[in-house]
Amino acid sequence: MTKVISRLYSRSENRRKIISINIILIILLVSITGCSDTKSDEKETIRIGVSVYDSRDTFITQLMDEFNSYADPDVTVVTYNAGQNMKEQNNQMQDMIDGGCDVICINLVDRTEPEQIIDLALSYDVPVIFFNRELTQEDLQRSDKFYYVGSDAMESGIMQGELAAADILDEGTNIDTNNDGMIQYVMLQGEAGHQDAIVRSEYSVETLIDSKIQLDRVGLAIANFNRTQAQSKIEQLINSDAQIELILANNDDMALGAIDAYLNVYGENAKLEMPAIYGIDGTIGGLEAIKMEYMRGTVYNDKEGQAHAMYDLAIALATGRSLDDLGIEDGHYIRLPHTKITLDNVNEYLYQ
Ligand code: BGC
Repeated sequence: MTKVISRLYSRSENRRKIISINIILIILLVSITGCSDTKSDEKETIRIGVSVYDSRDTFITQLMDEFNSYADPDVTVVTYNAGQNMKEQNNQMQDMIDGGCDVICINLVDRTEPEQIIDLALSYDVPVIFFNRELTQEDLQRSDKFYYVGSDAMESGIMQGELAAADILDEGTNIDTNNDGMIQYVMLQGEAGHQDAIVRSEYSVETLIDSKIQLDRVGLAIANFNRTQAQSKIEQLINSDAQIELILANNDDMALGAIDAYLNVYGENAKLEMPAIYGIDGTIGGLEAIKMEYMRGTVYNDKEGQAHAMYDLAIALATGRSLDDLGIEDGHYIRLPHTKITLDNVNEYLYQ
């Protein structure tokens, strides 16, 4: 090819021109071969882009810590914080594409608004692993390069209900302190519209009802998965003299907020005044609260399993390796199972 081009120039023409054209052609050929290598196992540097909805979220922070420490040292992980702003996350998606990320992991700010992320992924043909905040099945199925890594919200709700039901049936008036045959309870709910708020609330209550426990709801507070918001909602209820025998929180951070409220209002008598409190997640703070017997139980939302699944999938997608052993269901989903944690087994999780 280079010879043909060379012949176009007569001998009298400037030889330097010929040499420089030859060099350009050689560079082009080398770079074309380099590109085809990117689809094989031999690709040298893998770049994974991650955008989290809010880096102040305890569960997400602990999941990302695990993701980063599990990542191979020669793989570049670029992490962005969307700070709860969907527009910002859309811009970050463009940045990650422009920055040459092979795979992009998205923890959606708004799980009902993935349009721009999806459009960008489709037009640049980039694989996307959505995690923790689940988009609709319809959206996920728009590409066979879209995946979701998370857990089954219904399972976590059922397990929380089972933990509470077992204690209530076992301890009677220890929990039903006013001995009226009903359990006065408060539901601390996560973000409105988040699958882990709606579904967990519904199924934990349904499980208690199925266990023949009479429930009397004295409060339903949306505290957005946030510890401080939960504390202030529970303090308001305590100060309005609500009788509370049970607190079901959609996550550990809100359960910890409820504990903070009792500590703040009752000081050293707090433990005596505290109702039975249950969370979901098994964050480090949540596990410590179980160990200290402030919280009776939580449901482990396997952040290690989710971080590893995301990373292994990202590497397989970037290198073109087989996805067969990754536990993908229905072509798109990896869901890690939950487990129940109480004082009996908390050490296994706290010191793992
Ligand atoms: C966790 C919460 C977290 C939320 C963020 C849920 O799965 O249980 O702790 O705040 O995800 O999306």
